[in-house]
Amino acid sequence: MKRDFLAITDFNESEIRETLKLAGDLKKKKGQILDVLKGKTVACIFQEPSLRTRVSFEVGIHELGGYSLYVTDNEIKLGVRESIHDVAKVLSRYVAMIEIRTLSHDNVIELARHSMVPVINGLTDLLHPCQIMGDMQTIIEHKGKVDNMKVAYLGDGNNVANSWLKAAVRIPIDLRIGTRKETMPDEGIVQEARDAGRSKIAITEDPKEAVRGADVIYTDVWASMGQKDKADSQADLLKNYQVNSRLLAAADKDCIVMHCLPAERGREITDDVIDGEHSVVFDQAENRLHIQKAIMVKLASWM
Ligand code: CP
Ligand code: NVA
Repeated sequence: MKRDFLAITDFNESEIRETLKLAGDLKKKKGQILDVLKGKTVACIFQEPSLRTRVSFEVGIHELGGYSLYVTDNEIKLGVRESIHDVAKVLSRYVAMIEIRTLSHDNVIELARHSMVPVINGLTDLLHPCQIMGDMQTIIEHKGKVDNMKVAYLGDGNNVANSWLKAAVRIPIDLRIGTRKETMPDEGIVQEARDAGRSKIAITEDPKEAVRGADVIYTDVWASMGQKDKADSQADLLKNYQVNSRLLAAADKDCIVMHCLPAERGREITDDVIDGEHSVVFDQAENRLHIQKAIMVKLASWM
């Protein structure tokens, strides 16, 4: 039966662990062309800009032996030129999988509901599941494990923060979110993570408390796609949550610093930290390739 990957919780715990293991194995075979998607096409729909997601999906599809079709909203005008229902039905007749980046999470749910082929969420304003899957791979590479790691997320309670909470539903993590009450993550997702009882979930307005003894310090832009008009007011709200060397001093001395990129250097993170010895941001970027290949392999195996 076709399965989708719209949220990390669409995979159960063992499927997440298998996917992480597979991504590590695929990384060792980097550059080899496999035949998992041989003769198949994957549509990559982008309504928003992207470097990492677009390129890593296209390269990954190529390395799995498939063909990627880049589709922008200029062509389809999702939900405007025709309904998402009809787009899903039509694409299902042409392609083996659909990856989509669009702001509205409801669009992705609607697309997946009517698609006969797997749909992968390449970022919505609610969730960015491929990112945090790749980030867990990066943590395992640098720390040997992700289980029970102290992960401190600082800044805006956005799609990336929400995705950490979704990961914490399935995998035990000591997750601390440092943010303002005005910029909290999604309330329902916080509750879901707490109700799951799998992870420690702490939310604090004190950035020092969030990073105390942390193994991982994570940040992201303070104004996401679709909210760039709020960039200055968000910066004003969140200025105490900047990841800089003073904050780093409160974390574990061997902590790693993560950012999904693109970064606004000098805002949520300083140059010395993002370019410093603790930073693993380019490993994160690379692992998007390997984890998404693993996700596509899993989805293809369930068809
Ligand atoms: N991290 C990430 O998703 O980057 P892009 O927006 O460039 O795809
Ligand atoms: N929170 C950011 C992530 C970018 C990869 C955004 O949605 O713009």
